[in-house]
Amino acid sequence: MADQLFDTLLAETKKIFAEKFGTEPEILVAAPGRVNLIGEHTDYNGGYVFPMAIERYTIIAASRTNADKATIWTNNCGRKAVSRAAGEFAVRGEIEPDDAVDWTSYVQGTIACALEKGAKIEGAFNAVINSNVPLGGGLSSSASLEVAVATLMEELSGHKFGKEEKPLLCQKAEHVFAHMACGIMDQFISALGQKDCAMLLDCRSQVPEMVPMSDPSVSVLITNSNVKHQLSGSEYPERRKDCEKVAKLLGHELLRDVTMDELLASKDKILAVDDGERLFKRARHAVGEDGRTLKMKEALISGDWATVGAQMYASHESLRDDYEVSCKEIDALVEIARKIGPEGGVIGSRITGGGFGGCTVSLVKTDKADEIAATIAREYKSQIGKDATIFVTRPAQGARVL
Ligand code: GLA
Repeated sequence: MADQLFDTLLAETKKIFAEKFGTEPEILVAAPGRVNLIGEHTDYNGGYVFPMAIERYTIIAASRTNADKATIWTNNCGRKAVSRAAGEFAVRGEIEPDDAVDWTSYVQGTIACALEKGAKIEGAFNAVINSNVPLGGGLSSSASLEVAVATLMEELSGHKFGKEEKPLLCQKAEHVFAHMACGIMDQFISALGQKDCAMLLDCRSQVPEMVPMSDPSVSVLITNSNVKHQLSGSEYPERRKDCEKVAKLLGHELLRDVTMDELLASKDKILAVDDGERLFKRARHAVGEDGRTLKMKEALISGDWATVGAQMYASHESLRDDYEVSCKEIDALVEIARKIGPEGGVIGSRITGGGFGGCTVSLVKTDKADEIAATIAREYKSQIGKDATIFVTRPAQGARVL
């Protein structure tokens, strides 16, 4: 199923390339979306995240040209998607960001940051970008686009970026050109994911540890609430600022360096400042989430599914109540999964990604996955009146040249 989806996307991308440019592409690259198992809103606090790449990709087909600018068609890509649009992109000289953000911002931004890091190209290129990563679903359609473009720039220039350099330049493109102050999780996992592994990333040292997830009896089920999230709003940067404020107040650079004991002991000090109650709740989430992430990783390795599930539900509650990034549709999905419970094959479930809509991630027993998906779809429709989109994925390979 996953291979078939990939093959279909690849064939479609080549077909559009032939239609638009009248030739076969010279270069083909792919970069996946991701799902975060746990460790949410911790990356920009220097904490731990535990994502895996998913079997949904952005593919780029390209060929070199002698033109001044690159001509790129998109079929479906970027946080703010449009279908079948073309753009012209600068490939040398000073490249300035625009105020307005659309799919071209991610592409132009990544080209600019790749050039800055030494991926100089002669001439330009024609390309088609196509993606089956759901847009606005919290599955990192933007990071997969950035990482695919960076990988293309490596191929076009013959300049290989360092292991961490590639995700970091993609993050910079998102900060500067898409005006979204994201952390490093999405770009790291899209660039460095490995098949059948989740990745525990210490976002302070930026050193990833690959954790095998090859037990065939457990599956990762992703449920899209089909409530589109939009992260460039104020919610994300506001939370980031709140966390930074608390860290500073407690004399640290990052919340990662604050222990739960220290946070609880400093409660009165935090409550005494403006919006102290909110600040305390935000920090309690970030600090607690680091502990849950490390605990879940250990439990996953030892196959202690009860502990895995408990961490996932606790993470969801903390994101719902303390971090306030959930919504009624997502809460309904998690409650439906929780009700099915271990007897019905559900290990755990939680919101995943930036929040305010998007998807839930659930770990389920493989032999019950179809039944669970059917129950979730039916109950969600009856409670919320919307259709959920549900799929199962294995941990996928990160960016690659095809
Ligand atoms: C978005 C950001 C990530 C991370 C998550 C929340 O996906 O791009 O850097 O902060 O939200 O965990």
